Amino acid sequence: MKSRVKFFDTTLRDGEQAPGCSMSLQEKIEVAHRLELLRVDVIEAGFAASSPGDFRSVAAVAERIKDCEVASLARCSKDDIDASYEALRKAVSPRIHVFIATSPIHMEHKLKLTPDRVLETVSEMVRYAKKRCPQIEFSAEDAMRSDPDFLAEVVRIAIASGADVINIPDTVGYSTPHEMRTAIERLRAAVPECEGIDISVHCHNDLGMATANTLAGILGGATQAECTINGLGERAGNAPLEEVAMAIRTRPDLYPVETVIDTTQIFMASKVVYGIIGRTVPINKPIIGTNAFAHEAGIHQHGVLANRSTYEIMTPQSIGIPDKQMVLGKHSGRHAFEERLRELGFTLGKEDFESCFARFKELCDKKKDVTDKDIEALVRNRFPEESGQYRLRNFSVHASNSEAATAVISLDIDGTQHEEVALGNGPVDAAYRAVDKIISPPEYGFEDYVIQSVSEGKDTMGEVMTTLKYADRLFVGRGLSTDVIEASILAYIHAQNKLMAYYNQTKEDRIWQ
Ligand code: KIV
Ligand code: ZN
Repeated sequence: MKSRVKFFDTTLRDGEQAPGCSMSLQEKIEVAHRLELLRVDVIEAGFAASSPGDFRSVAAVAERIKDCEVASLARCSKDDIDASYEALRKAVSPRIHVFIATSPIHMEHKLKLTPDRVLETVSEMVRYAKKRCPQIEFSAEDAMRSDPDFLAEVVRIAIASGADVINIPDTVGYSTPHEMRTAIERLRAAVPECEGIDISVHCHNDLGMATANTLAGILGGATQAECTINGLGERAGNAPLEEVAMAIRTRPDLYPVETVIDTTQIFMASKVVYGIIGRTVPINKPIIGTNAFAHEAGIHQHGVLANRSTYEIMTPQSIGIPDKQMVLGKHSGRHAFEERLRELGFTLGKEDFESCFARFKELCDKKKDVTDKDIEALVRNRFPEESGQYRLRNFSVHASNSEAATAVISLDIDGTQHEEVALGNGPVDAAYRAVDKIISPPEYGFEDYVIQSVSEGKDTMGEVMTTLKYADRLFVGRGLSTDVIEASILAYIHAQNKLMAYYNQTKEDRIWQ
């Protein structure tokens, strides 16, 4: 019988804590629903004790997700465990994920604890967590740079104290596949108590080996893989879920294990996550890159036309790339739009659907053919106008090559209209200065501005992403319009909405602490 490998997704925790990857509550909920459709076994929704914002998002995901376990990370401290327990109260299947570092370098310099004290802490805190939650995962942070005998002792104690899952992280992405496989085999042999317990691997990608290490861990006897969508995560990221899942699916001869992942959900999950963090898919990224299934080179095309398997080891359908492109237009009604959304893998709530449909109709007046790419962009950009304190009401911009640009911007703030005028070095600069005059943000850095066309043709929509920096965090805003000045203003207001929400929330956090 094939052994089963579980997928533990940490896009919302390890992924989200990486610079430039922060997500709003709504966005986290959307990602969690995508992960549920993918049928991951566990969703790590956040680190409840780290801030009230994280607490709220763990609680919100825990309340909504029914078909996966929902986990919250906790340091080995009663306060952290209590916060996770509280945030997970409404979860159907809660999991508290307790961790402490076990490598000499971390114990000495970060924790300033002796190995014996670490062992006592593990025993005490895993017992404490187990009294509050039926499912406890224990992670030995920096396990792959820990002394193997000490690691075995830590694992023995964690299991004796009630841990159900033991995670072996390669925290700094230092390992190689051979080493990872041997480490798991050795651990299983040294600690017979691991029988019946899930052993997990959590691999960072600093040397580009996260996927290979995860697969090697599975060959060594790991029964849980910790991954993120698109490989988001600290520094070079974590093992990309799409790579690990597709390697298992494509090479059953080498990985004779079962998973319950629905790989046909990969494409949409990846797009949704890239859309939220305001990044475009790299062309050559495995599985989900724009060119991953393109066979442009003449010799390849010839082979693929004769028989797809000449150059194709997996099909686009297996990751959920839609078969056919459809074009909708002026005469397409609600039903056609709803049907196409469904075929593209979107299930929107009533309000979301109505607002997307209204924008689809507006777009049909401006653009003859509305393609799948346009529809995806409408769905991806449905939050900016609806969330946040500031909303664009009107704008008027004058630009020429002989004088400074002028912008008049009018924003709605809690139902009241505020208007300002500003001059600038071009229309976008003038508009952004006028917005700043209205909202008076704290001092921030303007990190990036990217504009791209959504589809082909001169009448295409422009999608703008602006990135602002405040207090070492990046806030990405998106805007979409057939008018690129409007798209630029919407993207900026979206980013400022996130920045200001964080600014106001951290004020609240300081009071809370
Ligand atoms: O990389 C790591 O060690 C982690 C742990 C907290 C599991 O993310
Ligand atoms: Zn990690």
